[in-house]
Amino acid sequence: MNAPIRTVLVGLGARGRYWAQVMHAEPRCDVIAYVDPAREALERADATFGARPGFTSLDQALAVLEGVDALVLATPPSGREAQLRAACERGLPVLVEKPLALDLVEAARFVAMCEDADVPLMVGLNFRYLAVTTERMRLYRDGVVGRPEFTRFTYERWRDGHRPGINRYPLTMEHPMLWEQSIHHFDLLRFVYGVEPRTVACHAWNPSWSMYAGETNVAALFAFEGGLLANYQGTWQSGWSAPGFEWRTDATAGIVTQFDQFGDLRFARRDEAELISVELPPHEIWVTETAGLLRAFVASLCDAAPLECSARDHLSSLAMVEACIRSSRDRRVVDVHEVLHEALEATA
Ligand SMILES: NC(=O)c1ccc[n+]([C@@H]2O[C@H](COP(=O)([O-])OP(=O)(O)OC[C@H]3O[C@@H](n4cnc5c(N)ncnc54)[C@H](O)[C@@H]3O)[C@@H](O)[C@H]2O)c1
Repeated sequence: MNAPIRTVLVGLGARGRYWAQVMHAEPRCDVIAYVDPAREALERADATFGARPGFTSLDQALAVLEGVDALVLATPPSGREAQLRAACERGLPVLVEKPLALDLVEAARFVAMCEDADVPLMVGLNFRYLAVTTERMRLYRDGVVGRPEFTRFTYERWRDGHRPGINRYPLTMEHPMLWEQSIHHFDLLRFVYGVEPRTVACHAWNPSWSMYAGETNVAALFAFEGGLLANYQGTWQSGWSAPGFEWRTDATAGIVTQFDQFGDLRFARRDEAELISVELPPHEIWVTETAGLLRAFVASLCDAAPLECSARDHLSSLAMVEACIRSSRDRRVVDVHEVLHEALEATA
């Protein structure tokens, strides 16, 4: 495929607006239509990013449009079945926002459906495309601090779920932190260390002041194959509005640590007195890394590059979420691989 990919953007909410900006800026992507049931969202997209035919449902759009090459789905994670089915019926590759579904078995069913239809399904794991992620992986690959053995991942955020411009559905969903936020962090752990989790002991809960119906706090200890241990703590209802982030890895000859989810990477070998900062290129948050994700999608369609962030791979990160839910509910250590295997069996 040499001409720009004629793409329909479905969902123009908080995330869809970044997608619109990034897709319009990508020369190998041609945004041919917007879809959103909210008329104001369609009008705002026309006014902000450039007028395009607007539709209130994907079915309506696909009935009218000709020459569609691909879909970007930036819709809420519940209710994606009809959209994916429509893509499969027409053989349209899809780039879908995380999490693919709010249920592991359902997600596995979607993966099977797309594979049966030979439809590429990529998941929006934009944090993989941050320079800080690439540089962290390079430090390990080049053996700068030796082999990682244990890590502490801390994400503390006061997320006001009522703030204008932010999505509303997490306020009432079950396990909002795990499905919506920790999924990114769990994916990063698998991606950066290149190993799969074996077991997890998790406790998920809500602090007394939480505005969310489901748990916003997650504490989990993952044991990965090869022995790596990951101590994870995430919250959306931190006691302080200033965000806290630290992802520190202790390795055989030193540490790598990151103080901001979009940057601030440092390392030290065991006897070094000070941490050394790693130089990173300039970055526009939510934009630069989303553009990298989009370029990877386009390359898989136009240049026959391998599909990155495949939905099948994503199932292994969703299995970490599901294993955390079971571990917290049953107060026991859960085998993550078994959870994944069960879901795959259920859809075989
Ligand atoms: N990768 C990231 O960094 C990141 C960041 C934020 C959100 N997200 C993900 O993006 C997705 C959307 O989240 P959001 O924050 O934009 O939510 P949102 O509620 O702000 O926006 C969702 C939009 O989708 C529209 N919509 C709902 N059903 C639709 C349908 N059937 N067809 C077309 N449009 C429909 C809504 O009208 C709304 O405009 C979620 O999966 C979320 O987890 C990802």
